[in-house]
Amino acid sequence: MLSKILLGFLLIAFLVEATFASNFYQDFNIKWGDGRGKIFNNGKLLTLSLDKASGSGFQSKSQYLFGKIDMQIKLVPGNSAGTVTTYYLSSLGDAHDEIDFEFLGNLSGDPYIVHTNIYTLGKGNREQQFYLWFDPTKDFHTYSILWNPLSIIYYVDGTPIREFKNLESKGIPFPSSQAMSIYSSLWDADNWATRGGLVKTDWAKAPFTASYSNFNIQACVWTSSSGSSCSSKNPSSNQSWLKQSLDSTGQARIRWVQKHYMIYNYCTDTKRFPQGLPPECPLE
Ligand SMILES: *[C@@H]1O[C@H](CO)[C@@H](O)[C@H](O)[C@H]1NC(C)=O
Ligand SMILES: *[C@@H]1O[C@H](CO)[C@@H](O)[C@H](O)[C@H]1NC(C)=O
Repeated sequence: MLSKILLGFLLIAFLVEATFASNFYQDFNIKWGDGRGKIFNNGKLLTLSLDKASGSGFQSKSQYLFGKIDMQIKLVPGNSAGTVTTYYLSSLGDAHDEIDFEFLGNLSGDPYIVHTNIYTLGKGNREQQFYLWFDPTKDFHTYSILWNPLSIIYYVDGTPIREFKNLESKGIPFPSSQAMSIYSSLWDADNWATRGGLVKTDWAKAPFTASYSNFNIQACVWTSSSGSSCSSKNPSSNQSWLKQSLDSTGQARIRWVQKHYMIYNYCTDTKRFPQGLPPECPLE
């Protein structure tokens, strides 16, 4: 009886391992924070922490030119006001491209804000903000960035929340030639993060900790010597992400999220853009 249970357990453990063979040691480096970023469980779990002296952050070892990155994150629990947890792709330099997820903390019981932004050639100003339909501090949830030649799509637990289409043919810049790394950090931004900066970080609650696990990188690895190579470490996956776009079900999901959970959309902020909304807006 016991051995049957054990066998079942081992089988499940094996299947999980085969599906999510993610290892933080293998694909990421803790870049800063003087010991405040830590990797546990043979590379399966990573935590970032923040105290009054410093935050912390990690970065992918590789650079990518297009990819689909899934990351499971459990955000700072309790009073996280003033803290910001980031998870983003970025290239280097002044004219850099960047695809941002930022999670703005809040007082216990008050909702986090998911802040998104897209930079092309060094220019951002494309913010959209959302509340979530669950408590992101209770469990791990999957936050994904799909970046392929057709579009950028943000997903939360597989539900698309935002799409930025490639409209280069209409003269609108799209990140399509600069390789990006994956970054994540936890830092203090109490001058703006929570209720626009009104609620400050309570350092008596420090250290603040965010946890990461089970990431999945399907991407084209880029090196300066050999350019871009599209392959996947996950044997059960294929290259379908490179051509993936939103079907009508996906479009309907985005409309549902935007109707019920969107707090801010630069594309409707006519006060901010008195000379006219950015060109991608009517088209997006
Ligand atoms: C924090 O909670 C307040 C009150 O519910 C809300 O207005 C705000 O959008 C929440 N999130 C942030 C990051 O300020
Ligand atoms: C590739 O993966 C996608 C999504 O995981 C799946 O829907 C599709 O059937 C797969 N295609 C092949 C040829 O395996």
